[in-house]
Amino acid sequence: MTAQLIDGNALSKQLRAQVAERATALKAQGVTPGLAVVLVGDNQASQVYVRNKVKACQDSGLHSVLEKYEADMSEAELLARVEALNNDPSIHGILVQLPLPAHIDAQKVIEAISPLKDVDGFHIASAGALMTGMPGFWPCTPYGCMKMLESIGYDLKGKHAVVIGRSNIVGKPMALMLLQKNATVTICHSATRDLKAQTLQADVIVAAVGKRNVLTADMVKPGAVVLDVGMNRNDEGKLCGDVDFDGVREVASHITPVPGGVGPMTITMLLVNTLEAAERAAAGA
Ligand code: GUN
Repeated sequence: MTAQLIDGNALSKQLRAQVAERATALKAQGVTPGLAVVLVGDNQASQVYVRNKVKACQDSGLHSVLEKYEADMSEAELLARVEALNNDPSIHGILVQLPLPAHIDAQKVIEAISPLKDVDGFHIASAGALMTGMPGFWPCTPYGCMKMLESIGYDLKGKHAVVIGRSNIVGKPMALMLLQKNATVTICHSATRDLKAQTLQADVIVAAVGKRNVLTADMVKPGAVVLDVGMNRNDEGKLCGDVDFDGVREVASHITPVPGGVGPMTITMLLVNTLEAAERAAAGA
């Protein structure tokens, strides 16, 4: 079997068109959805990410502001900027790009963002909302994975999902989202004794480790759905995921490519969250 690709670019295009439509409807009510992106320092990768986020907002009719600060900005100054954005009615979503310089406590900054504007879904209140099934913002990458499963009409009820990776940004929230859809979920990590024994049981595998070839064909049950969250470089410097794509695609029923899979979905879900924040604000929620 050669797996069907789940095309993150095509799905993003559809979802972003819906975002643009909802943004137009909101603007007719006098509310333009707005995202503030805050970048501290000159991390090269972060510069590219924030540019892409701002451009995606523009393309979907969302207002965006990019605030760039020098690497020596103090924690107090950054906290003051976050507070100002919390109080700015033209801004519905706030994203402080990570990583922050070492002298700034990133968790403290995240906790300073109003949960009503936490479109990254990184605030403890957002994590708690996800855990308890309350309304809140879901972290964009695992949320995008859920949309990809939805796009192929996949019913998670009773299925066994294995998440490889336990980060606060992807692995843990991913597991909770899968659980919420009634999957039986296993989280694997660096101390897991026999990863292959776990993944061979899985109907759905999400690889979110940040290491090449974490998942190879011999570790996948025929017909499983494989989502690859990894972003790595191979020996030739080409972008690749955590999954041995060429091997696994011969065993899986569906697989996400890298690039063009989960990556574009992350920014798409940021737009969705920002729009949702604006709609909630407009409704007085
Ligand atoms: N750095 C890398 N990915 C992300 C992300 O999704 N959000 C933020 N705030 N920083 C990041």
